[in-house]
Formats: sequence, structure tokens, C-alpha cells
Amino acid sequence: MKIDWPKLHNSAFAGVPCLVTGGAGFIGSHIVDALVSLGARVTAIDDLSGGNRANLNPEARFIEASILDAAAVNHAVEGAQLVFHQAAKVSVPASVADPVLYNRVNVDGTVNVLDAARLAGARRFMFAASSSAYGDSPELPKIETMPPLAASPYAANKIAGEQMLRAYASTYGIDTVSLRYFNIFGPRQNANSAYAGVIAAFARKLLAGEAPVITGDGSATRDFTFVANAVHANLLAARYSTRFAGQIINIATGQATSVKQLAEAMARLLGCGHLKPQFAPPRPGDVPHSLANLEKAARVLDYSPIVDFETGLKTTVEWYRAAARG
Ligand SMILES: NC(=O)c1ccc[n+]([C@@H]2O[C@H](COP(=O)([O-])OP(=O)(O)OC[C@H]3O[C@@H](n4cnc5c(N)ncnc54)[C@H](O)[C@@H]3O)[C@@H](O)[C@H]2O)c1
Repeated sequence: MKIDWPKLHNSAFAGVPCLVTGGAGFIGSHIVDALVSLGARVTAIDDLSGGNRANLNPEARFIEASILDAAAVNHAVEGAQLVFHQAAKVSVPASVADPVLYNRVNVDGTVNVLDAARLAGARRFMFAASSSAYGDSPELPKIETMPPLAASPYAANKIAGEQMLRAYASTYGIDTVSLRYFNIFGPRQNANSAYAGVIAAFARKLLAGEAPVITGDGSATRDFTFVANAVHANLLAARYSTRFAGQIINIATGQATSVKQLAEAMARLLGCGHLKPQFAPPRPGDVPHSLANLEKAARVLDYSPIVDFETGLKTTVEWYRAAARG
């Protein structure tokens, strides 16, 4: 699916120097593509530890380096007006296995980029925050005024990042905003990783002719959000005319889908409805339900999803099918 970004964002980014960290990753590469199509001057920095060179837009300048490398980050951010910070270690279970590494990349790395951005005079810093900040509280839908409750080192890293952004906005001139993404999916999400998002994991199984494996009884629900919606939210945030001063904003579809419904819909779309899902014991720490309240996103950003769940899922499944063919 091709999104007409200029129709949505006109010439707001023409000639604007932008930095996208994690620009070879799943969400970061889609932000890079949208910015390039809008005529921005884009630099991407990524150490390729989780991303892929094939995701890189050839019209963006690419710096292959870690966000922990201060010299490389300073070089990357030079002249940038807008910073879209997407680089991170992204697996909750891996953060449980190696909390020190996760803290280094996700907290120290975020502060490195943030500090380089304010020293370079960047105007605004958009942060890829996470719905995991809501922890395992049963209240639904999740609203930004709820207290953050980390249930994993990864969630704690993301909450720390949000707080750092708030501190930077109140202490220095740079403006910051944390966009709390809910279960983003779409083309390029890594299906090979042991910790892949559930949609990528189901696609890999179904395309191999195997039944998808659901952990738990499949009644868990998520607010699955097609990646173009996260890109759109970042662009709206970058264009916002007044200061965010470190505010936190949910970004999602605003619709609950159960994991069982998801597995069945994907099997149907891939023409393998006979592959009935298998069930495995629930994963400790998995929250039963997650759904975003999007009132703040609508009020502050004028955000509403530009691609619905069903359309996004169809596009994604087609992409996995084509990728599997090679
Ligand atoms: N996908 C989701 O559902 C979701 C939900 C909430 C938040 N997020 C956040 O969105 C961002 C993007 O996630 P994604 O799903 O695209 O994952 P991804 O793994 O595809 O992207 C992360 C990118 O960061 C890069 N990276 C990791 N460590 C780095 C380092 N030290 N230096 C430079 N680059 C480094 C990786 O190589 C990768 O390209 C992350 O910050 C993630 O925490 C994602």
C-alpha cells in the first residue's frame, strides 16, 4: 500500500534536515521513507544489530554506528532540526535476560541522542515510547494520566526515556514528545527474531505451512496498529506549532482484536484456514488486554488512524508472502 504523504503533510518537511535513529529498522525505515517522499534531507543512524541494510532508503544519508558512539551521534545530528529517535533494543524477554545491556542502549543511548540533539540546536525530539509503560494494571482503555508501572526492564527503560525527555524540555530549549506506540505491525517487521511481534511470528509459521502457536487461550486482546499510523503520528508531532514540553501521547488504532481472531484472520488471508492455531502455556508477565484511549492524540495532534487494522493486516500478510517467495 502506498500512502500519499504529500497529500497528508503538504510541503511541511521540504528541505528540512531530519535525523532518524534506528532508520534501518522496521518503524524507523518507514519514517525515513515518508520523510524522503516529503522532500526532507534525511540522515539515518543504525548499528544494524536489529535492522537490515535492505530497509534503507537510498536517498537518505546512512551512518552505520551505535547510538552509544558519541562522536558518531554528534556527526549524525549535526544540522538536524527534527530528531525521530527509534533506535532501541526491542524485546521484552531479552530485556529480562540482559537488563544491563538494555539499560545501556535504551536509556544511556537515548540520553546520548537527546544530549547531542540539544547541543546541535535541534528544534524537536520525537521518542518511540511504548504501551508497556502501562504495565499489568487491568484498567482499560489505557490513558496517559495513569501512573507508569514497569513490569519488565524494557518497560522501565522506556519510562526512563520519557522522563528524560520531560527533563530536557523543561531544562533546555529543545522541545520533546513521547509517542507511546501500541503493537505496531507492518511490512519489514522482523519475522526471524525469536521475539518477533505476534503478527510476524504467525506469518512465518503459516507461510511454512505450519499452525500458528498461541500462548495462552487466545482471548488476550491487543490494539494492533499498522505502521503508517505511527509514521503519521510522528509527522504530525514534528509539525505541531506549540511546545509539547515532554508530553506523552498514545498512538494506536483504538480497536481491540483478540490473538485468536488475529490468527484466524491471517490464516484466511493466506488461504490456509485449515491450519488451526495450536495453544501453548501462557507467557509469564503477558498482560491480558491492551487498548489505547486516543482522545489526547486526537485533541493535541489531530491524529486519527489513516489505515484500519483489516487493511493493514491484508497489506502486511501480502508483504510476508512476497518476502517468503524471495
Ligand atoms: N514495534 C512495536 O510494536 C513497538 C511498540 C512500542 C515501541 N516500539 C519502539 O519503536 C522503536 C522501533 O522499534 P521497531 O519495532 O522498529 O524495532 P526494530 O528492531 O526493527 O528497530 C530498532 C532499530 O534500532 C537499531 N538499534 C538497536 N540498537 C542500536 C544501537 N545501539 N545503535 C544504533 N541502532 C540501534 C536496530 O538495528 C534496529 O534497526 C523502538 O524504540 C521500540 O522500542 C516499538
